[in-house]
Amino acid sequence: MCSSGFRSYATQNTIYNNYVASDGVEVADTYSARPGHSEHQTGLAIDVNSISNDFIGTPECEWLAKNAHKYGFIIRYPKGKESITGYRYEPWHIRFVGIDTATAIYNSGLCLEEYLDIDSFYR
Ligand code: DAL
Ligand code: ZN
Repeated sequence: MCSSGFRSYATQNTIYNNYVASDGVEVADTYSARPGHSEHQTGLAIDVNSISNDFIGTPECEWLAKNAHKYGFIIRYPKGKESITGYRYEPWHIRFVGIDTATAIYNSGLCLEEYLDIDSFYR
């Protein structure tokens, strides 16, 4: 199921500020995008099933990791790429890039930043 799809700026602002209020900016920045910076605001990202570490290791999680690219999606914040994407592992967050690009990224083992040779740091 889709737990979260398109979000407006106002929605992302509320989500991010609630996380900052409970965890502080430094921690919130490891798992929540600042308003204006979330892929959810583009309409190209979906959080599938459970937005929780409980999702890790489930059959659905493994299916998604192996098959999302066939439908044009990548696991956008992969395990082991935290220092590059800026975010903790989010196996539920998939981002549409088209089948050819998603397949190329899947086969490369790179995250999107590495594949595009860009960074995603706030400036
Ligand atoms: N959880 C991701 C990084 C977002 O807030 O868009
Ligand atoms: Zn997401």
